[in-house]
Amino acid sequence: MAILYNDTEKIFSLNTKNTTYQMKVDSYGYLLHLYYGKSINSSMEYMLLYFDRSGFSGNPYIVGNDRTYSLDVLPQEFPVQGTGDYRSVALVVREETGCCDCDLHYKGHRIIDGKYSLKGLPAAYSSKKAQTLEIMLEDCRMNLEVRLLYGVLEDCDIITRSVKVKNNGKQTIYIEKISSVCLDFLYGNYDVITFYGRHAMERNVNRAAVSHGKHCIGSRRGTSSHQYNPFVILTEETATETYGECYGASFVYSGSFLAEFECDQYDQTRFLMGLSDELFSYQLETGDEFYAPEVILSHTSMGLNRLSKNFHNCIREHICRGKYKDKIRPVLINSWEACYFDFNGKTLCQLADQAAELGIELLVLDDGWFGERNDDNSSLGDWYVNEKKLGMGLAELSEKIHKKGLLFGIWIEPEMVSENSNLYRSHPEWTLQVPGKKPVRGRNQLVLDFSNPEVVQYMFESISSVLNQTVINYVKWDMNRSIANIYSSSSKYQGKVLYDYMLGVYSLLERLTDTFPDILWESCSGGGGRFDMGMLYYTPQIWCSDNTDAIDRVRIQYGTSFGYPLSVTGSHVSAAPNHQTGRVTCMDTRGCVAMTGAFGYELNLANITEEDKNSIKKQVKTYHKLAPLLQQGDYYRLSNPFKDEIGAWIVVDEKKEKALLSVVFLNVHGNLPVVYIKLQGLDSTKNYKNTENKKVYHGSALMQYGFPISVSHGEYPSVQILFEKV
Ligand code: GLA
Repeated sequence: MAILYNDTEKIFSLNTKNTTYQMKVDSYGYLLHLYYGKSINSSMEYMLLYFDRSGFSGNPYIVGNDRTYSLDVLPQEFPVQGTGDYRSVALVVREETGCCDCDLHYKGHRIIDGKYSLKGLPAAYSSKKAQTLEIMLEDCRMNLEVRLLYGVLEDCDIITRSVKVKNNGKQTIYIEKISSVCLDFLYGNYDVITFYGRHAMERNVNRAAVSHGKHCIGSRRGTSSHQYNPFVILTEETATETYGECYGASFVYSGSFLAEFECDQYDQTRFLMGLSDELFSYQLETGDEFYAPEVILSHTSMGLNRLSKNFHNCIREHICRGKYKDKIRPVLINSWEACYFDFNGKTLCQLADQAAELGIELLVLDDGWFGERNDDNSSLGDWYVNEKKLGMGLAELSEKIHKKGLLFGIWIEPEMVSENSNLYRSHPEWTLQVPGKKPVRGRNQLVLDFSNPEVVQYMFESISSVLNQTVINYVKWDMNRSIANIYSSSSKYQGKVLYDYMLGVYSLLERLTDTFPDILWESCSGGGGRFDMGMLYYTPQIWCSDNTDAIDRVRIQYGTSFGYPLSVTGSHVSAAPNHQTGRVTCMDTRGCVAMTGAFGYELNLANITEEDKNSIKKQVKTYHKLAPLLQQGDYYRLSNPFKDEIGAWIVVDEKKEKALLSVVFLNVHGNLPVVYIKLQGLDSTKNYKNTENKKVYHGSALMQYGFPISVSHGEYPSVQILFEKV
């Protein structure tokens, strides 16, 4: 059984294959956290010592004059403002008077078969055996009900957490802060690993010691953001890729968030993750309920590569849905870097002809096919075809492309509106902007008010009509600015608008993906500005970054790989010199890097040499051969491209029969030394053959002492070697 409850000791133990999570209802009805880590079989209560910590760590009234009991020092499951815990708390509830004071006590619990779901929000699901623990807590004074939800996915060592809050009281209350998870650690020196960045350079890796004080990352942009990804890792300070205690947390939400790491006065560490408390205030009237988005947790004592594997499996099996979930994705060519806004039906057909010749399977018509859009200053919101520009209808174009043997896809940006559009002219009140104040523009566009169901309904009809009239096999859903002015004319309380906006986005995604189940959906936000589990619940792949430079991509995809599998990471071969960096890399290296993801091309095929065309033909064939391994295999990072001069990784299939080693030289020098790389994930008792030169090596040798790679020179050369078990 995954979830055990010991009624005598009032201890809950949540067990996955390799981990245990434990908590206890104490004699005062407080829910204390006891343990999260490698599997254990006993109560961890003995770890809690009680002694007088002075009046500055106060004592709840219920404990009488027992000065040894203070919630300022005890590890808790869901600390709240008002109990004398002066660390950051998970819940702050405000009453009309401005008073913020809450005191939650255990009321009951339920253990349910199956994994809970959350109304209107994405959350992990499980068709296999999974269990849910629901713990009911109550604040009697306000008549506030809080249900903590724990989902246990045993197979990939995942524990999920969420919270439901219900106002059963007579007065309106306001949730001013809510974290979906709190993890308290009694002792230990931890590092926190976060993934920071900017547009076109997402998910760089930052590792820092958790020290006294608070370390926070998050977003207040209304999107999860390029700047900080909502996936974080806490590790013991000595942990490496292959060794040590690691905890990962991923927020299944695509809007603003907050992750906090705090080392307190007694050297204890608290971790909290959830919605951003800035620009958030959720009004709950009598009878209203609120759901906090889910956080997915995993622990391993075997290092970072293993932690990543847990998240990769979880995303592939319990987050991504739909027809393409486990399917090999078609190799695509995207028109954006091929021709930007400069195309018509004829030139697109030419691109399709060239693509078909090279074995490419899907043509994606990116931005510029609708309204009167010839640059990025107009027409967002006008989702009807620009027949004048195309010289034909979209259905006709799609038919022509299909006749050439290619699938056909389009780009949309449903959450946005250009001021120069028919939609804006007829519905200016459908945008997020503050009355009496000019809004902030981003890419010269405004944000539609997705917290208003009327807007969501309009967009559903508008996008559906395009998808109904034309054979469309793929849709790229983009979102190209941050939200600045949070005011909805349809809302009577503005504090909840950003949250309701996200619910609106999710509801449209749910309805469209449900209505058009055969379409392959890819999401995007200026590349990886909304690269999170929330979006992955609706779209099984995300455009990783607007930066397609192979060398930068090695680093971006390295950072991405900590929390997300290759199958969801959109990655394309583009032109040289690269459009973002001006760097020239050879076609092989561009292919090697792009193949480590949902693969495609994004360049003008009319402008490339015969030699490059031949390389593309070869790459597409190689990709087809390797795609099952790349999309389903176990991925191991073998270098740190932010420090090392190479990017190196290996993907090994479940049975350890095939392994693809990829190495990219991030720098070239004269007279290069040999590079030795220790492989991972192989069977240490078996031999492996290098399929290029047929040489055979023992798995243990390749992993213990390594494999030598030598290149002479070239434009950032790379090596891809497939090993097969013999
Ligand atoms: C964003 C996307 C690009 C492209 C453009 C089109 O920047 O990330 O891939 O679709 O929009 O305007």
